[in-house]
Amino acid sequence: MPDNEVETHYSRGDLYQAITGALEAAGKNLANLQPEDLDPVEHFHGRGVAATAELAASLEPLPEHEILDIGSGIGGPARYVARTFGCRMTGIDLTQEFCQVARRLNQAVGLADQIRIEQASATALPFNDGSFDAAYSQNVSMNIADKAAFLGEAHRVLRPGGAFALSELALGDGGEVLYPVPWSSDGVHSYLLTEQQTLEALGQVGFSVVSVQDNGPALRQFYQAQREVVRRDGPPKLGNFILMGENAKEKARNAARNLEEGRVRAIEILCRRD
Ligand SMILES: C[S@@+](CC[C@H](N)C(=O)[O-])C[C@H]1O[C@@H](n2cnc3c(N)ncnc32)[C@H](O)[C@@H]1O
Repeated sequence: MPDNEVETHYSRGDLYQAITGALEAAGKNLANLQPEDLDPVEHFHGRGVAATAELAASLEPLPEHEILDIGSGIGGPARYVARTFGCRMTGIDLTQEFCQVARRLNQAVGLADQIRIEQASATALPFNDGSFDAAYSQNVSMNIADKAAFLGEAHRVLRPGGAFALSELALGDGGEVLYPVPWSSDGVHSYLLTEQQTLEALGQVGFSVVSVQDNGPALRQFYQAQREVVRRDGPPKLGNFILMGENAKEKARNAARNLEEGRVRAIEILCRRD
């Protein structure tokens, strides 16, 4: 049973069955599942695997690297990095069901030996200081109230010189955020900062910022393209809407509207532990 409201928000109880059922309905062979078969479903953020690919490349992973995914969801980004760069991955996530699904999917596509998944909080990482060569966190910080603990922990577990890529939704100046959205049904456990506040918080825990990217234009284009596909072909069989529960459509609509109306911004910050 979920024991906190963030975990309750993300848990549905039958997620593995929902994913495998949708894959089967889309004609995928479950007995011989390929990592790419999962691409449309397993990246729980806007722009899917394309966003993960850009974020991962910014870390310049090498096969000998140990990389940490903070808030790894059902493991899509970690599987992408493992299979693309050949490095060893660790994913942590607060939601037990997501961790269980991540492990089963790692197994299903033959990546279980390369990726370990642990249920843990980003604000209290169960790792020694300096354990990882690089780390990233993709669309997770919106759920975390204690940014100092979150960013401080990311800094602590990195080796000196290690890179940290943070992709998140930041507060915009276009008015109140509309809910429900994929990370919160009603604004409870939603803790957005402005870009400036996040940059200050990163500096306070000792990170040096290397670059800041505005992913808004690419994400707006993605939403537009998605709407055109749905108008032309109807609703897709596969998508990360499977992870969003009953009101997935409304959450997805608000996510696009919040961005398009400047209520939120999509940013990506690359920084380094000195
Ligand atoms: C929108 S999903 C993104 C998942 C994944 N990063 C991805 O992009 O596919 C947000 C994730 O953050 C996790 N999460 C939220 N708060 C967390 C915390 N304090 N510690 C660890 N994970 C957390 C949730 O359980 C959920 O899996």
